[in-house]
Amino acid sequence: MKRILITGATGFIGSTLFNHLKNKGHELFVIDNLSFGNKNYITINDDMFFEEDIRNKASIAKIIQNVQPQWVIHLAAIHFIPYCNQHPFESSEININGTKNILDACKEAKSIEKVFFASTAAVYPILNDAYVEEGATGPLDIYGLSKLTGEYLCNEFHLATGIPTVICRFFNAFGPNETNPHLIPAIQDQLNSGIRTIKLGNLEPKRDFIHTTDMSAAVDMLMNKFDKGIDVFNLGRGIEYSVVEIVDAFSRQLNEEIIIEVDPLRVRKTERMHLLADISKLKNFTGWEPKVSIDEGIKTLIGQQLDFKMSV
Ligand SMILES: NC(=O)c1ccc[n+]([C@@H]2O[C@H](COP(=O)([O-])OP(=O)(O)OC[C@H]3O[C@@H](n4cnc5c(N)ncnc54)[C@H](O)[C@@H]3O)[C@@H](O)[C@H]2O)c1
Repeated sequence: MKRILITGATGFIGSTLFNHLKNKGHELFVIDNLSFGNKNYITINDDMFFEEDIRNKASIAKIIQNVQPQWVIHLAAIHFIPYCNQHPFESSEININGTKNILDACKEAKSIEKVFFASTAAVYPILNDAYVEEGATGPLDIYGLSKLTGEYLCNEFHLATGIPTVICRFFNAFGPNETNPHLIPAIQDQLNSGIRTIKLGNLEPKRDFIHTTDMSAAVDMLMNKFDKGIDVFNLGRGIEYSVVEIVDAFSRQLNEEIIIEVDPLRVRKTERMHLLADISKLKNFTGWEPKVSIDEGIKTLIGQQLDFKMSV
């Protein structure tokens, strides 16, 4: 059993990870300002939940000093790319300065055994093959750049402290408790309202969708296994699906035809055609295997109401 501090645990990925680690018997503490997250997604005692903004350096240092966690899992960030593009300074401040505040506080606390940083596939440049961790980075947007800077800060932190540090590049997550209008929840939301002709943007791009329960198992296994140095791992499913294939999965699960209309307002001008993870490094290191198929995951989303706090 570990004392674990998770930032951003009321969010989409964080809430499933929180519940996974809680079921394993760990003692969990959370920092979240609830800007995107929802406290109802987790069950936690008030004295273990800190409603705080990671930009507040002094408060963050005080919380970490008081909690004395053994592991810190840092997920809190602004990550919805259209929001980041429209609010570049706010997003950078949270993703860069916020991360620095967490790492600086971890430097001071004497309890920290391991740190985990949620990075993203958005640190990679455009490529039509599967991404390997050793390949070049080259973010296309402010979000990817802010996360790549977070990775550099983790390197600096590890060099200064020697504390084992895991950088995990998440690919496209799907599952319950979505907080942002990404592709799958955008489809889910429209179908929930009863319509069967849905409006979407670009249809051709392919994405590597990984279920949040599989992600949680991977983070858990990485945290248990990783005990020296600093390293980067891709976390995806290793399979890509086009937008049309995702809609087909909804159609199979509903057993109804779904018609797609391209909405020019949703079409992104700059778009990667592929985003596929090579996950052999993670699998070889941990023995982890993704289990949830796209159809199984989508089946559980049908009819589930969504609660987006912000739109673009
Ligand atoms: N969802 C994905 O597909 C995906 C892909 C790649 C990387 N990631 C990364 O995974 C992590 C979790 O993403 P998610 O999809 O769960 O997003 P999310 O928006 O649902 O969760 C982020 C959480 O951080 C909190 N937060 C935001 N700003 C904060 C601040 N200033 N102070 C304190 N808390 C703050 C939010 O309230 C929310 O609970 C993020 O770091 C994100 O960049 C997600």
